[in-house]
Amino acid sequence: VYLTDEYLTQETRDLLSSLPSEKGWLVSKMYQFEGSWLTQGLVQGIVNCQKHFEANDSDIILATIPKSGTTWLKALLFALIHRDKFPVSSNHPLLATNPHPLVPYLEGDYRVSPDVSFSELPSPRLMQTHLPHHSLPVSIKSSSCKIVYCCRNPKDVFVSLWHFGRKLSPEETADYPIETAVDAFCKGKFIGGPFWDHVLEYWYESRKNPNKVLFVTYEELKKQTEVEVKRIAEFIGCGFAAEEEVSEIVKLCSFESLSKLEVNRQGKLPNGIQTNAFFRKGEIGGWRDTLSESLAEVIDRTNEDKFGGSGLTF
Ligand code: A3P
Repeated sequence: VYLTDEYLTQETRDLLSSLPSEKGWLVSKMYQFEGSWLTQGLVQGIVNCQKHFEANDSDIILATIPKSGTTWLKALLFALIHRDKFPVSSNHPLLATNPHPLVPYLEGDYRVSPDVSFSELPSPRLMQTHLPHHSLPVSIKSSSCKIVYCCRNPKDVFVSLWHFGRKLSPEETADYPIETAVDAFCKGKFIGGPFWDHVLEYWYESRKNPNKVLFVTYEELKKQTEVEVKRIAEFIGCGFAAEEEVSEIVKLCSFESLSKLEVNRQGKLPNGIQTNAFFRKGEIGGWRDTLSESLAEVIDRTNEDKFGGSGLTF
């Protein structure tokens, strides 16, 4: 997952040596770049992406903070956009391929080289990022491409990340106290953090420019999936005709369907991550079985402080 030193350019090494760094939760060292805490490989990926990525007006960018529903949205957006080419059938790509390789991860792909080409992608191009809004490549902001942002209740994001970390690196995380991890999460000191700033930036952007940024929550998507999927389809320019069925796509992309597939139970991504790490419980409020009341309160207090006055509640 994380690049080793030998892949880093001299430019990246120089940049890294000027950045604040700390030992982090789940990683031995993380760096603060443009306000976000990142691995060294991701810093290189972001710099490459900011310099070289050119957005097209027709592009669709999925933005999330990790563990907020990226896998689900990747599946839904892919199925929606390409439904003429790939109607729901036994040959659908999502039945044989995990959603992650179907939708490129911008700054992730740029970790290895500045020469990444997305020209092979069918139009409209669909790509994903975990970047906060202020770190997006300029062309994403200046073009007419669309951004779909999905966020999720912070307690569920934390718990999902907690279990994901334990699954990916059981030795490193075995003795890591959950209290320390909650503290790191609330301070924004985890890979991809801080959480609240990430959400708020996209929230305000979506209010300022609703044709550019669509703000979706995991919870609403879970509670009224068909309504939300239709709203997303409309926003990205492939709305449903009155007689067209949305339920097949919803079912195809549901946790129940995707998590049962062989490719998502036994598969591995090219970076070595087991695909089943992306399918755990898929519930609203699942944090209750992992967080004590007092730790939940710590996150709730931070939540109130950060979201107070924004109009956002969880
Ligand atoms: P839990 O760990 O709470 O189960 P991401 O894709 O951003 O990494 O987020 C992973 C979270 O989304 C996990 O949450 C995972 O189970 C859930 N998830 C994955 N696919 C899903 C789907 N099709 N529907 C709903 N939730 C899904």
